[in-house]
Amino acid sequence: ARLLLLNGPNLNLLGTREPAVYGHTTLAQIEAGLRDRCQAAGHQIECLQSNAEHVLVDRIQAARADGTAFILINPAAFTHTSVALRDALAAVAIPFIELHLSNPHAREPFRHHSYLSDLAVGVVAGFGPDSYRLALDAALARLAH
Ligand code: DQA
Repeated sequence: ARLLLLNGPNLNLLGTREPAVYGHTTLAQIEAGLRDRCQAAGHQIECLQSNAEHVLVDRIQAARADGTAFILINPAAFTHTSVALRDALAAVAIPFIELHLSNPHAREPFRHHSYLSDLAVGVVAGFGPDSYRLALDAALARLAH
């Protein structure tokens, strides 16, 4: 199956961005790990990071036509602000997992609300770069049944 990994604003800075919160692993390393894991399971994953809301909305819309079976998304700050991302995910009706490196519920109150969580198959948060692997494994298990 085709999977899509989307990363929102500032996640291009992973590795150097607030390492105490987000760790030292770069996004390129995370993406490479997911690609390997996906290929080993006989699937394909496309990865896109953008700081722009409309780029993410456009990619989600395109996923409806390109056969994407599952979306993994770390919406970053858009988690807490974006009705547009929510509406795009609702429109395409492709199952998705919301994921975060940190646990937003253990942080500032403005991070406690997500515009996406109630539409998600599930949410993985708080495990650093492992959140991506855990989310992928959950998606692969879901695709297998
Ligand atoms: C984040 C958590 C968000 O609150 C924050 O805005 C991010 C990253 C995470 O992965 O922990 O940019 O999504």
